[in-house]
Amino acid sequence: MNSRFFIPVLIGLFCLTSSVTANADTALEISMKQMSKAYKELALDLQQPLDANKSDYLALTGTLKTSAQTARGLVPKKAAALPPDQQAVMVTAYQKSMDNLVQSIDGLTQAIQNSQWDDARKIMADIKQQMMDGHKAFRAKE
Ligand code: HEM
Repeated sequence: MNSRFFIPVLIGLFCLTSSVTANADTALEISMKQMSKAYKELALDLQQPLDANKSDYLALTGTLKTSAQTARGLVPKKAAALPPDQQAVMVTAYQKSMDNLVQSIDGLTQAIQNSQWDDARKIMADIKQQMMDGHKAFRAKE
């Protein structure tokens, strides 16, 4: 193959792969997106909950909990920009917030198991507030 043709192709491929990898989601973003999908579905379901669909709702709280526990073990991108001593402080605070989130998800599971739909909706609203506070504190400005 003629090098006048080969080299531009090579450069093109290199740019393509580096932009794809640069934009790939972090493991934390992947966990967060899984939480987001489960949260949105559950919020919709809880507007008109049915006892008959309880196992579906509990499957969603299961996904929320597993993804939150995975996210708890990961480090937000924002930490990388901080000096080492502040990184440790931030990660500890982040983990504490994620522990609180997991506790709330456990309370949500309990309320759903007991068909306490008003309580479940209240906890969902509280989880949303925890999300907004967590993003403000620990999410890097993109
Ligand atoms: C149910 C609750 C939550 C939902 C649905 C949620 C959802 C999301 C979504 C959709 C993203 C963007 C992912 C992307 O950019 O691709 C995200 C990112 C992020 N969230 Fe959450 N979030 C929740 C709770 C929290 C909490 C409580 C915290 C902190 C205590 C938190 C910390 C973060 C961070 C740090 C990022 C940026 C990812 C990174 O640094 O790599 N989130 N979240």
